[in-house]
Amino acid sequence: MQWQYNLFAMKVSNGMAKDWIASLLYLVLFVFILPSDILAQKNRTKVKDPIDRKVDSVLRLMTLEEKVGQLNQYTSDWIFTGPITQDNDKVGQIKSGMIGSMLNVTGVEHTRKLQELAMQSRLKIPLLFGHDVIHGFRSTFPLPLAEAASWDLSAIEQSARIAAIESSAAGIHWTFAPMVDISRDPRWGRVMEGAGEDTYLGSLIAKARVKGFQGNGLGSLDAVMACAKHFAAYGAAVAGRDYNSVDMSIRSLWETYLPPFKAALDAGAATFMNSFNDLNGIPATGSKFLQRDILKGKWNYSGFVVSDWGSIGEMVPHGYSENLRSAAKSAILAGSDMDMESRAYKNHLAELVRSGEVPISVVDDAVKRILRKKFELGLFEDPFRFSDEKRQEKYWNYAPHLEAARDVARKSIVLLKNKNQVLPLAKQGKKIGLVGPFVHALKDHLGFWSIEWPDDTSRIISTWKGLTNYPGVTNSFLYAKGCDIAGVDKSGFEAALEVARASDIVVMTVGEARDMSGEAKSRSSLRLPGVQQELIDAIAKTGKPIVLLVHAGRPLVFDKAVDASAAVVYTWWLGTQAGNAIADVLYGTYNPSGRLPMTFPRTEGQIPIYYNHLNTGRPAQTDSQSLYVSAYIDLPNSPYYHFGYGLSYTTFDYSNMEVSDTIIRGNQKLTVRVRITNTGQYKGKETVQLYLRDISASVVRPVKELKGFQQIELNPGESREVSFVITTEDLKFYNDALVFDWEPGYFDIMIGPNAGKVMHKKVEWLK
Ligand code: NOJ
Repeated sequence: MQWQYNLFAMKVSNGMAKDWIASLLYLVLFVFILPSDILAQKNRTKVKDPIDRKVDSVLRLMTLEEKVGQLNQYTSDWIFTGPITQDNDKVGQIKSGMIGSMLNVTGVEHTRKLQELAMQSRLKIPLLFGHDVIHGFRSTFPLPLAEAASWDLSAIEQSARIAAIESSAAGIHWTFAPMVDISRDPRWGRVMEGAGEDTYLGSLIAKARVKGFQGNGLGSLDAVMACAKHFAAYGAAVAGRDYNSVDMSIRSLWETYLPPFKAALDAGAATFMNSFNDLNGIPATGSKFLQRDILKGKWNYSGFVVSDWGSIGEMVPHGYSENLRSAAKSAILAGSDMDMESRAYKNHLAELVRSGEVPISVVDDAVKRILRKKFELGLFEDPFRFSDEKRQEKYWNYAPHLEAARDVARKSIVLLKNKNQVLPLAKQGKKIGLVGPFVHALKDHLGFWSIEWPDDTSRIISTWKGLTNYPGVTNSFLYAKGCDIAGVDKSGFEAALEVARASDIVVMTVGEARDMSGEAKSRSSLRLPGVQQELIDAIAKTGKPIVLLVHAGRPLVFDKAVDASAAVVYTWWLGTQAGNAIADVLYGTYNPSGRLPMTFPRTEGQIPIYYNHLNTGRPAQTDSQSLYVSAYIDLPNSPYYHFGYGLSYTTFDYSNMEVSDTIIRGNQKLTVRVRITNTGQYKGKETVQLYLRDISASVVRPVKELKGFQQIELNPGESREVSFVITTEDLKFYNDALVFDWEPGYFDIMIGPNAGKVMHKKVEWLK
């Protein structure tokens, strides 16, 4: 088996495995032979749980330096996911118990070697191995934003489950996922890593992902610790520029940005990561309000918080801390337990304790939180329990996982346009021109935050392979690249035009390269890069129908491309099985069912744009530009594509919307029904969306908020009633005093296929 790195940069001596047996005996002595028995404990007022007692017994043996060591996390020397700080003596530091966790180490052989080093330390406290397993490990799944477009919570959970199975088999204990940041700004490159703009959908997805990663719970061999990140409000960076400041009302924070974190916590997220941004002037890493008051206080969170890469040190350039020492002090006092790559705790924390500036109880609390997770993972019992070569081998090329990846990928695709039912494509008798820079793309399909393997390109299915190798397909295929993703070279246009002229239909692949969205990948223009739009315009002039496949990690602004095309399919970045999933949809084996998890703007000038905005006192009623209303003079307010939008090869009719009562009292429930009929020719899946508006309240409420959705599958001609139950829980919001409650009054209940097309019923809800 090959790994993506063959140079193990650290000097490690071999043959250390035998030592762990000795270590184990040693640990049994102090960890399991506890000072008092359970009966004696029962008589005490507060009975400690067994893990707490084990943690305490370890803590009692630790020196201050060893405690600080547990709070220290370094990257490996071969993968960097942040600014590089070389450290010459990681081996020595592990052996002396000065490192509690490593990130960017994968593979049983590597994690085993490092764990063996940890077993040479005085207390033999095992290392934690963390990694950015964001959308798959060996099998790459669609980008998280693409998966969100499936609105399929069990598929999303399954994707995280498989990522956990594969990564835990490769020695990983902990993934830095899910990212649960709500974002309404597609200029921000990290929208690809989240679930989009909606708090309700984002919270359900956060929960599904945590459940998927943690499976049957920490301690199961195929579970990895989840990490809800980035706490908090990172997705609201001013101007969509990564790492930028966040200035927002506390009510928005509670109402829009915090609920997905709470959902992740309620689902059992073992860890949290804080964030790079400042929130209203206080860097999140140094924010006591976020970490101590909300997370560890009000929410009673018992896991630990890891800083983001270097974010403790970055409080100096923020202008919040004078130097690394004072940054260390602010971070630990604020509740940031583990220092990822700042070396702030390593260099200053022990001295800060000795000088009395940081109470030892604060350090102890952080250490205990981390040790607890190591116990829960079973690492004290067996530090090498995730170091099983056979298990790693089993999941190295595990066909059922690729099948699952294909299924999630086709569910993530969103059909945006299908004029004259140009799709699905016929399988026989057609000449199909495949044009564009991504026809033979491999690695691009993996998208940002994918893990690279030396043999991975052989496993990735290109669009060419997917479409040309499809079972039962006898079409003939032509190919021309046309142009590069970026750059100004048009020398390939003529060959592309020849292909188009010789074809019945042209499937064009356009979009962003995989590294144009992701961390530090903010864009000010969301248009197709390079000369791709010009290539589309040129092909369109041939009069041949274009089926446009758009690859991107964010909503793009591509109206001209849509106008020029007969069909538009948003394919994001779909992972290892991309080509097969695209072929499933294009040939109609899978009827597209994805729905947009973010609003698509007409131009960048509308950003931030989101469906659940407030109404203003002068709302623009339509897209006509009347005077003195809240509108642009040069473009309509409405988006290019609404939140929740997506087509199918069939059509659905919504009728007979009914509410069980028009006047509801107190804790009564309201049932809302609607009839959905498949009026087209294909069996298809519809996502029926329920929205609600509190028409007048003590604080202004959004024009609509998603409160529920259901996916149903109907045969042609089939009709089904879908019902939703609304309770006062769904009416609640944060009032001016930040109390989460509902208020009596009138409510607009809406049901529809997307946020831009809804039916209404008005009800009155009395106290
Ligand atoms: C920085 C990113 O913001 C974070 O999400 C990631 O987990 C860490 N780097 C580690 O790679």
